[in-house]
Amino acid sequence: MEQEIAKIREEALKDLSAANTMEALQEVRLKYLGKKGALTRVLRGMGGLSPEERPRLGQLANEVRVLLENGIERMLEDLSRQEQMRQLATESVDVTLPGRPAPRGHQHPLTTVLREIERIFASMGFEVAEGPEVEWDYYNFEALNIPKGHPARDMQDSFYITDEMLLRTHTSPMQVRTMEKTVPRLPVRVIVPGKVYRRDDDATHSPMFHQVEGLLVDQRCTLGDLKGVLLAFARQMFGPDREIRMRPSFFPFTEPSAEVDISCINCGGEGCRVCSGTGWLEILGSGMVHPRVLANVGYDPETAVGFAFGMGVERVAMLKYGINDLRLFFDNDVRFLHQF
Ligand code: FA5
Ligand code: MG
Repeated sequence: MEQEIAKIREEALKDLSAANTMEALQEVRLKYLGKKGALTRVLRGMGGLSPEERPRLGQLANEVRVLLENGIERMLEDLSRQEQMRQLATESVDVTLPGRPAPRGHQHPLTTVLREIERIFASMGFEVAEGPEVEWDYYNFEALNIPKGHPARDMQDSFYITDEMLLRTHTSPMQVRTMEKTVPRLPVRVIVPGKVYRRDDDATHSPMFHQVEGLLVDQRCTLGDLKGVLLAFARQMFGPDREIRMRPSFFPFTEPSAEVDISCINCGGEGCRVCSGTGWLEILGSGMVHPRVLANVGYDPETAVGFAFGMGVERVAMLKYGINDLRLFFDNDVRFLHQF
């Protein structure tokens, strides 16, 4: 048996040094150390030896086993290191290449227009305030001279939270909230940008849209002042030869009331789908603050007079960029948004 062990040792070392792939090494392991391997067989046969021979031959066979195991282990490490070196040499990374920039977004066109509206009115002395989107029925309707059951409520059908609380249908409740805070001081000069909600849905009406409320209250103020401010706004926003048109209208919280249109940029005034064939697009409602609204918040309608307006921001943006469907603003298609 001693000779057999010596022969296995010699052969195994020869096989080992000839093995130069992972697969070949596995074969060597199987041939000598596997379940039916040559060395395994010898080790199993130890039981048949005499007690005097067993320790010496057992040690001999074990030495060969350890020798083989370590040899295989070392060669596996060598092979994987060689593989690594090969990869480093052939698949090198050029660290001097410029990086790939992360895609960068930009302002939504509505935000751009909103900022521009704020800038123009700020230049005329208006301060910017913001109010809650979930509003009390009192501020949205009641204090604006629109009692329960008033037909004007139907024109602004809303989303109710409770009987007394709703998503505001316009920014006008901030007229009341602002005046409650400033009374009895004059003048009041504020604009209020924000989201509003209605049960509307077509090419020029969205269930969620933006308004900018304007409010000016002073000792003296006329409809002419209102028209002057709005014309100045329209020309700064849309260019020096832009025209506005004031149409008599009705709002319970202004008297007299007017709706203001801007000549349609989409069709140049000829009439199209955007302006419903009229050549004009309504951008805001306005009027002189109703004496009852002033009285509701504690101003004396004999000594305080004011004007107010509520502008649709999407409509302004449609005119500014010549967009014919307001829903494009909210589809979030980057092919559309990239253009601004
Ligand atoms: C109002 O909301 C009044 N609060 C405006 C006002 C303020 C009048 C102060 C007097 C004094 P109106 O419902 O017309 O009015 O809406 C005002 C503007 O919002 C419209 O001119 C239009 O530009 C825009 N608008 C109205 N509904 C929608 C909608 N569903 N989608 C997009 N814009 C809309
Ligand atoms: Mg209107």
